[in-house]
Amino acid sequence: MDKPTLIDLPKFEDPRGNLSFFEEFKHIPFKIERVYWIYDVPGGQKRGGHAFKMQQELVVALSGSFDVIVDDGNIQERYYLNRSYFGLFLPAGVWRQMENFSTNSLALVVSSTHFDSSDYIFNYDEFLKFRNGYGKE
Ligand code: TYD
Repeated sequence: MDKPTLIDLPKFEDPRGNLSFFEEFKHIPFKIERVYWIYDVPGGQKRGGHAFKMQQELVVALSGSFDVIVDDGNIQERYYLNRSYFGLFLPAGVWRQMENFSTNSLALVVSSTHFDSSDYIFNYDEFLKFRNGYGKE
């Protein structure tokens, strides 16, 4: 899986309340090294605005809704996440931004790596150079 992909996660509908889950290598294509979450986002704020060289992620809107804008250096796609049984898989090497957070939204992010500040690309031109170097060796 090398493209951003919306993954339909298992969902057990139950009159007592629904349940969803995912397992590494089964529903998502990587080993889980870290989990973080984004919450209490003030109206109008944006998160992200960078790429990762190595890190792959799965993003789930556990509560509320937000947009994830994904850019591979060529094509930009906007994913509207508003259901806790959909996970957006983000491969390494894509520029991502999150915005339009609803009140009380909760974004769960599952990552393939431990936190590593050297994995970030913050400059868009640098990101394009990184992309263009892909597969040319
Ligand atoms: P950052 O990844 O820039 O957030 P976002 O992409 O959502 O805008 O992270 C914000 C700050 O949090 C930054 O100083 C790094 C720190 N941080 C950690 O220490 N560990 C983590 O797992 C994450 C995701 C961030």
